[in-house]
Amino acid sequence: MSEKCCINVFDDGPLGVEELEKLTNSNGEELEVKRKMALCRCGASQNKPYCDGSHKKNGFSSKIEKAGNNEQDDDGTTEIRVFIDGPYEVSGNIELNINDEMGLSKDNPYYLCRCGASENKPFCDGSHKKTNFSDE
Ligand code: FES
Repeated sequence: MSEKCCINVFDDGPLGVEELEKLTNSNGEELEVKRKMALCRCGASQNKPYCDGSHKKNGFSSKIEKAGNNEQDDDGTTEIRVFIDGPYEVSGNIELNINDEMGLSKDNPYYLCRCGASENKPFCDGSHKKTNFSDE
């Protein structure tokens, strides 16, 4: 039996993803998955979707985010899909750990910001369109 998949939202830093089964791009192509990996959410990594430490140089702040913990009921494959020029789509039974308590949406899938501009971090609020976020 595999370990529990979870996403740890690090203050002013990346998403720490553990035990994910599948990471795909917008075309459904599989990307490299490590048992523990950091995914960019500041929008500045030169190695998207992976974190390259750029958040330390650009002063990325995640202070807007809500405290909470979100465990989904779905037993399907744990997958994060990287939308081109957009958010992460998270599906399957993945625990989302932000701070302490306070339940969050049980939407499945749900969308996590990776452009750094959302006013509702760690979730996407559509700001990537206004800021013309690009994977380039
Ligand atoms: S990816 Fe940042 S607001 Fe959508």
